Amino acid sequence: MQHRSAWKNRWTFMLATAGSAIGLGNIWKLPYMIGMNGGSAFVLLFIACVFFVGIPLMMTEILLGRRAQKNPLNGIESLAIEANISPRWKYIGGMGMLTGLLILSFYSVIGGWVLSFITSAAMGSFTGITAAESTANFERLLASPITLLFWHSVFMVMTMSVVAHGVNSGLERANNILIPALFVILLILLGYSMSVGDMKTAFSFMFNPDFSKITPIVVLSALGHAFFSLSLGMGSVMVYGSYLQRNVSIARTTICIALLDTMLGLLVGLAIYSLVFANQLAPNAGPGLIFQTLPIAFGHMPSGNFIATLFFMLVAFAAWTSAISLAEPTIAWVVENTKISRKTASTLSGLAIWLVGVSVVLSFNEWQDIKIVFGLNIFETLDKLTSTILLPLGGLLMAVFAGYFMHKKHVHEELNLSNNAFRLWQFTNNYISPIAIIAVFLYLFGLVK
Ligand code: PHE
Repeated sequence: MQHRSAWKNRWTFMLATAGSAIGLGNIWKLPYMIGMNGGSAFVLLFIACVFFVGIPLMMTEILLGRRAQKNPLNGIESLAIEANISPRWKYIGGMGMLTGLLILSFYSVIGGWVLSFITSAAMGSFTGITAAESTANFERLLASPITLLFWHSVFMVMTMSVVAHGVNSGLERANNILIPALFVILLILLGYSMSVGDMKTAFSFMFNPDFSKITPIVVLSALGHAFFSLSLGMGSVMVYGSYLQRNVSIARTTICIALLDTMLGLLVGLAIYSLVFANQLAPNAGPGLIFQTLPIAFGHMPSGNFIATLFFMLVAFAAWTSAISLAEPTIAWVVENTKISRKTASTLSGLAIWLVGVSVVLSFNEWQDIKIVFGLNIFETLDKLTSTILLPLGGLLMAVFAGYFMHKKHVHEELNLSNNAFRLWQFTNNYISPIAIIAVFLYLFGLVK
C-alpha cells in the first residue's frame, strides 16, 4: 500500500484546516460582500448559512476524507463501491478539483495585490494618506497589468513551491504562530478603528437586522460565501480530512474552525466599516474596499507603516495557506494515480492556473469591458461561477452522498457522536442543507420567481 502522510495530531489538523478556511475570503471578500449586499441582511444570512449548512457540511467532508483515506476523486469512488452504488459519484471529486483550480486563478491575482501592498507599506507610502489618495493609489495598481502580473506570478510560485514539497511538511509549524498573530494584529486594528472610526454606525450597519434588504440575490451570495469562506464543496477539507487520524473528534474540530473563521471575518468587517463611515467612503466599493480603506487607518496611526507591513504580511500568509489547499486535491489525485511526480504535477498545474490568472489580471484593466455572461467580466464570472454554483453544487452532492447512500453505520462510526448529536447532524445534512441549496439553485436558474 502506498504510504500516505498524516497530521501529527488534532491540533495540526485543526490549524491546517483553519489555515485553509481563513484567507482572503475573510479579510478581502467578506467585507466588500457585506457592503454590496445590504449590510446586516447579508451578515445575518451568512451566519445562518455557516451554522445550518456550513458546519454540518464541513463535518461531512471531513468524514468522507477520513473514511476514504484518499484524494477526493478516488476517495468518493471507493466509498461508492463500499456503499454498492455507481462509482461515477467520483466525478464530484473531479468537479471539486476543477473548481479549486478556477478559484486559485483569481485568488492568486488578489494574493498578488496583497503582496504589492506589503512593499507599499514597507516603503512608507501610507503615511498621512487621505481617502482620495488611497483610492487613487489602488486604482493605479489596477491600471498596471505588468505590476499585477508580476505579483500574481510571485504568489503562484510561492503557492506551488509548497505544494510541490507536500502540504504537511513545514506549513503546519508556521500556522501555529501566524494564525494567532493575525488575530492579535486584527485586535490592534479594531482597537484603532474603534477609537478614531465610526464604530456605532458600523455596528448597526452590520448587525441591526433590516429584513427588508433580504432579496434572493442576497441569500444566494450569503450561501455562496459560507462555502467559500469555510473552503467547502470542492474537496480541500476532504483531502485534509484524509490525512487525519481516527481518534480525533470531527464535530468539535469543525465547530472551532467555523467559529474562528466567522469571527475573524466579522472583526475585519467591523474594523473596515468604522473607517468607511468615518471617512465618508462608499460601503459598496467592491473588491477594492480593504485596499482603499485600510491604508487610511495605517497611515495615521503611530508606527502605522510597521503595523501595516506586518498586517499585509499576515494576510499574505493567510492567503497562501488557503491557496495551497485549493491546489492540493488536484495534486494529490495526480500523485496517487499517475507516475508524474509531485514536483512536475505542481509545476504543470501551476502554469495552467497562472495562465487563466493572466486573463483575470487583464479583466481589471485592458479587458475590463469584455463581458462573459450577464454583464460580468472575467474575474466576476469566475468568482460567481465558483462561489454561487460550483461550491454549493459540490456540497449538495457530498451531503446527499453521505446522508442517503453511505451505510449509516459507517457514517456514525466516523462521526462518533452521541445519538442525539448524530440525529442533529443527520437532520441538517439530509434536509436543511440540500433544501437550502436546491431552493437557491431553483431561483438562480429562474425556475422560481
Ligand atoms: N476559504 C478560503 C478563504 O476564505 C478560500 C478557499 C475556498 C480555500 C475554497 C479552499 C477552498 O480565503
